Amino acid sequence: MTVTGLKESTKYYYTVQKDGKQTDPAEFDTQSFDTVKMLFVGDPQVGTSKGQPTSSSEELAEDSGEANTAAENDGFAWNRTLNIALDQNKDINYIISAGDQVNNTGNPKEEEFASYLNAEKLSGIAEATTIGNHDSLTKDYGYHFFNPNQTGKGQTEAGGDYYYSYGPGLFIVLNTNNYNVAEHAETIKEAVASNPDAKWRIVTIHQDIYGSGLDHSNTDGMILRTQLTPLFDENDIDVVLQGHDHTYSRTKMLEGDGQEHGKYEFRLDDTGKDYDWDHAYNVDTDEAIKLDTSDATDDEKAAKEKFDQDNSCYTIEDVDGNSVNNPTGILYMTANSASGSKYYELAETQQDYVEVRSQNWLPSYSVISLSDSAFTIDTYQIKDDGSVEAIDDTFTINKTDSSDETSAVTEAQ
Ligand SMILES: [Fe+2]
Repeated sequence: MTVTGLKESTKYYYTVQKDGKQTDPAEFDTQSFDTVKMLFVGDPQVGTSKGQPTSSSEELAEDSGEANTAAENDGFAWNRTLNIALDQNKDINYIISAGDQVNNTGNPKEEEFASYLNAEKLSGIAEATTIGNHDSLTKDYGYHFFNPNQTGKGQTEAGGDYYYSYGPGLFIVLNTNNYNVAEHAETIKEAVASNPDAKWRIVTIHQDIYGSGLDHSNTDGMILRTQLTPLFDENDIDVVLQGHDHTYSRTKMLEGDGQEHGKYEFRLDDTGKDYDWDHAYNVDTDEAIKLDTSDATDDEKAAKEKFDQDNSCYTIEDVDGNSVNNPTGILYMTANSASGSKYYELAETQQDYVEVRSQNWLPSYSVISLSDSAFTIDTYQIKDDGSVEAIDDTFTINKTDSSDETSAVTEAQ
């Protein structure tokens, strides 16, 4: 069911029918459509905090199903983050999640969805979620989230690409667990055609093609980098929101280097229920590139080295400070886990494309403000006592359209 025609700054009430009975009314507040603010979160991944003691003090097993204490614990923490973030920012219009809403890859996980969706605030605010690798391999995601303007491209079991417009922004959400970039290109084309004059084009993907976490940023996270970088450039994307690496990073403004590069993809393992985490594959040659070279032959090490060099496919725009004007490059943000269900170490060496990164082992979230002329992002972590502190400076992209006399006049005043 789709509800249309909602007015701005209005309180609505709704009920749903459950087991033949109407529930008590729930409230849904729309915000102003002029000052658009989003809560940006990464990897709540409800159910991943394995190793927690259960009521019988045994360690929680991977597939324990009912009485899944990890799902309960992570749902509690996710609820806490949303309560704190949304109470501090009452004018948030909606939530953007960069994927891995839940944990159990390739298996049923209803207790994880129940715990995720049980968060008090979610009955009253819209959410634009992304398909993460943990969401991708079953149909469950599609049973729990309704996405608008689904293009039928970038499909996995969970669903595929979609897009929407909100205020001055066109938002394109790609399911990068499908490694066919030609399909994502189709989605972007369709999205841009739907709103060619949007002031901002913002993409959300799960895997951090430019991130800084130890577990993914130099391996599977960047597998689509050589293909997506020029695609985002060609389509004048302004910002890319990413997750997957359970660490925080903000890049410098990046562009492609205009050179030819190989095309890579990730594949499933023999069970078909999870990914082959050990290899990247060259799309054209079928070559398997071993990603972890700690126990590799000289040939395998050389192949990974070549893969790394090929992924040095970007240039860094020369900008200073925390405010940039009319950049040609793209900003890539990676969100840490919003629930704190799991964290990763930072990559040993900070990549040259990273401006700021952090891992403080605390749940975090970002607040994005969008106007016709400015994209602003602030990121906070939540301390054990529930207080909130910034983990990065406010970063702003200013855009002034020289053909737009009104904004030029406003600038001059
Ligand atoms: Fe992930």
